[in-house]
Amino acid sequence: MGGKRVVLGLSGGVDSSVTAMLLYRAVGRQLTCIFVDNGLLRMHEAEEVRKVFQRQFKIPLVSVEASAQFYRKLKGASDPERKRKIIGREFIESFARAARRIGRVDFLAQGTIYPDVIESISHQGPSATIKSHHNVGGLPQNMRRLKLVEPLRELFKDEVRQLGLKLGLPWEMVMRHPFPGPGLAVRIIGEVTPERCKLLRSADRIFIEEIRNAGWYERTSQAFAVLLPVRTVGVMGDQRTYQNVIALRAVSTTDFMTAAWTRLPEELLARVSSRIVNEVQGVNRVVYDISTKPPATIEWE
Ligand code: XMP
Repeated sequence: MGGKRVVLGLSGGVDSSVTAMLLYRAVGRQLTCIFVDNGLLRMHEAEEVRKVFQRQFKIPLVSVEASAQFYRKLKGASDPERKRKIIGREFIESFARAARRIGRVDFLAQGTIYPDVIESISHQGPSATIKSHHNVGGLPQNMRRLKLVEPLRELFKDEVRQLGLKLGLPWEMVMRHPFPGPGLAVRIIGEVTPERCKLLRSADRIFIEEIRNAGWYERTSQAFAVLLPVRTVGVMGDQRTYQNVIALRAVSTTDFMTAAWTRLPEELLARVSSRIVNEVQGVNRVVYDISTKPPATIEWE
């Protein structure tokens, strides 16, 4: 590869994090990672990425703060597919802009793993689009000349995790549940606003914290909170309230194509519910999603 440069979109998820570590071992500072904060991330996620990659491992990282831009473009959009398309487009634009500033780059690295390869093949088939996948396709013209580097292309998730641990990534990062590219936007039913993101972030943090404390994080495949901005009636003191609903979802699965809802212990659910209604302003009701996939999907949008 000589002195040529490689750029990688780093999300903080398992696949792109392991790709970053591996490439840094291979080509050192010829690698530059680009991290886009789209305002749709979970609590403290952006700081965590900067802490691990920039400060701990000293990997060259360009961090783009694009929240305002994403919120502006998402204003008024409530259709799930439209939201996904907007986010995909804005991501590519932010990424390409940051990449141009780096100067001459020859390679584009991606954290593609084996199941993604299989999935993208089946997406080209005749089956109807269930959800548009923003990771597939759609690079701007001037980036298409870049050569692709996909070092994890033949690995399954558990192999990627083992590799991540060997490369020194923190346990919590390697064992993270999957998080969708469009982030909190597909966990807020309807329009995405900064206020709704803030509320959902707080509820989600409580849920994950309690799941971790109870030793259930690694016993469930994916867990998260969803914001339903439909107002329901409640009572607090002698006042009537008219506030939002938080739905909790936790699933058990191996391939994410089918999933069962996780039988979380009652006491854990009770603690999460009471903490959310007490600590998150604007929520007066918490429900637990007991739907299997199929027919329900894992995400709500
Ligand atoms: P569903 O909701 O389709 O989710 O049952 C299956 C898995 O895919 C994740 N997911 C996404 N990931 N972009 C992504 O990168 C998306 O638009 C998207 N939609 C769903 C979901 O979190 C679950 O792990």
